[in-house]
Amino acid sequence: MRSYTNGVKGIILAGGTGTRLHPITRAVSKQLLPIYDKPMIHYPLSTLMLSGLREILLITTPHDQDAFFRLLGDGATLGIKLSYIVQDQPNGLAEALILGEKFLDGEKCALILGDNLFYGPGLGTHLQQNTSVQGALIFAYQVSNPTAYGVVEFNDNGQVLSIEEKPAVPKSTFAVPGIYFYDERASDFARNLTPSERGELEITALNNAYLERGELRVEILSRATTWLDTGTHESLYEAGGLIRTLQHRTGMRIGDVDQIARDHGWI
Ligand code: TTP
Repeated sequence: MRSYTNGVKGIILAGGTGTRLHPITRAVSKQLLPIYDKPMIHYPLSTLMLSGLREILLITTPHDQDAFFRLLGDGATLGIKLSYIVQDQPNGLAEALILGEKFLDGEKCALILGDNLFYGPGLGTHLQQNTSVQGALIFAYQVSNPTAYGVVEFNDNGQVLSIEEKPAVPKSTFAVPGIYFYDERASDFARNLTPSERGELEITALNNAYLERGELRVEILSRATTWLDTGTHESLYEAGGLIRTLQHRTGMRIGDVDQIARDHGWI
């Protein structure tokens, strides 16, 4: 197959243990659970496709890989190229850059979490304009429960002072959503991280590596964009309801990977 990249490849991180969704996720990967009328993985996949990315790596647990392949195959029916790799243990989000090093082959990347859902007018176009970064680009989004996320501290001039992972006392209400753009050095930086107290290679640590070099851009994601992560029973239920309501109300489809492939002229 011909090369599909313009120097930027996508990675979807769809491993993890999904303990907050037990007992459902004891037998089924979280990212295969339905969000209304589609499997969860379709939503982050659609976000990458809307960003114009066509070479995408799917990282799963060893036991779930077959199921993802049955669902998505090699991507040919969507006009994209999907590769697969397993993460043996949930060693943290930043491990994706190490596992994906060969796949990236020295190119830039967009990393998205398999349980994150983005929806908003112009989001695809906006992301398309930002996929090719020097340094790193991440986003900040106002939430009511920042302690569950990486939290960005800004000074009065809007400069980023710090990013803290799941702080007990958050310095702002701006959380970092699960989509990150990195330049060619991300795998190198990830390999030099030390695991956190909970034993994970933290994505916040990778972002801080760019921040310390003055090469991290943090863009505030507008309220017009909806960002949900769907890792709890409550949020999974809410996300399903929201997609159902929006689709019924507007007659438009959200996260429809076939439609996006057709709209882009990829199939
Ligand atoms: P989390 O929701 O932080 O972790 P989890 O999915 O294991 O769920 P829980 O906290 O309920 O146990 O993970 C965010 C996303 O990243 C999710 O889509 C799973 C994925 N992930 C991996 O693929 N590998 C990992 O090592 C981790 C920590 C998460």
